Amino acid sequence: MDDLKAKYLTQIADAGDEAALEAIRLAAVGKKGEVALKMRELGRMTPEERQVAGPALNALKDEINSALAAKKAALADAALDERLRSEWLDVTLPTRHRPAGTIHPISQVSEEVTAIFAEMGFAVAEGPRIDTDWYNFDALNIPGHHPARAEMDTFYMHRAEGDNRPPHVLRTHTSPVQIRSMEKTGAPTRIICPGGVYRADYDQTHTPMFHQVEGLAIDKDISMANLKWVLEEFVKSYFEVDGVDLRFRASHFPFTEPSAEVDIRCSWEGGTLKVGEGDDWLEILGSGMVHPKVLQAGGIDPEEWQGFAFGMGIDRIAMLKYGIPDLRAFFDSDLRWLRHYGFAALDVPTLHGGLSR
Ligand code: PHE
Repeated sequence: MDDLKAKYLTQIADAGDEAALEAIRLAAVGKKGEVALKMRELGRMTPEERQVAGPALNALKDEINSALAAKKAALADAALDERLRSEWLDVTLPTRHRPAGTIHPISQVSEEVTAIFAEMGFAVAEGPRIDTDWYNFDALNIPGHHPARAEMDTFYMHRAEGDNRPPHVLRTHTSPVQIRSMEKTGAPTRIICPGGVYRADYDQTHTPMFHQVEGLAIDKDISMANLKWVLEEFVKSYFEVDGVDLRFRASHFPFTEPSAEVDIRCSWEGGTLKVGEGDDWLEILGSGMVHPKVLQAGGIDPEEWQGFAFGMGIDRIAMLKYGIPDLRAFFDSDLRWLRHYGFAALDVPTLHGGLSR
């Protein structure tokens, strides 16, 4: 029996892996293992012999089992040590820089504006940025000789000789979408149209491509009062103030009659704009009652329907809200510059916990 014990304890000590250990376990203490065979011999022994051999065999079985368990644990520890040695991570290595994109300020402001007008029941309409001069001018009561055509510094699309298609322009305002939208849905209607427009102009407050949002509401008895309420709601919501005074200044647009430019009460104390207080006035948009000729061009009977329209510069109200002094920053400057003006949307946390760059 001592031989058996010595044999298996040596084998267990020498076992190289769990599979070898399991083979030893079966050979030694398995159902058909050597210890079991010895147990069977007990039946043939005298009671005296059995009294000695029985407990000794049980003790042997226990000893082998605990040696197996100890070796199994030791093998697992060794395996873990080996993994710890071979698989390691240098936590002092700087992380890889992954630049993350964020929404452009103009896109964000367009979405803010759209959300505010959506609350008041305005749907979003769209039109092409390259449009015919009929949609951009004639249909809006700006005939060929009209000075407004020259004032708008229009980009005309090149036309090859013999090309009989109507002249196309880069739309100078979002107003052509009024006509397209009237043609499409008729009256009554309530839409806004945010989008890019183009004029040959470049300085601190003008870029050749900029953005407007057009508003149009047509119904049986729409009036300037409705226009005023809608704009008040918009300004309060957009500039996040409880109240604001609007000033309607008589103006002229060929496509509205009467026409008004709208200013909001503000102060510029300390160089920062505060909307809704102070003694200054800030122009934010052009507006008016849709001219009967424009309704007609859109296929709507001006005897039956009337409406208001307005056009507002998105870039301009974005500059005002976020205090950005140069419009060109939106289109040819780098993001750090915009962030300098506290444009919060740019500071989107990244997975690394820092700010995107
Ligand atoms: N289209 C005008 C512009 O670009 C703005 C405007 C729109 C004015 C609708 C009145 C009504 O200046």
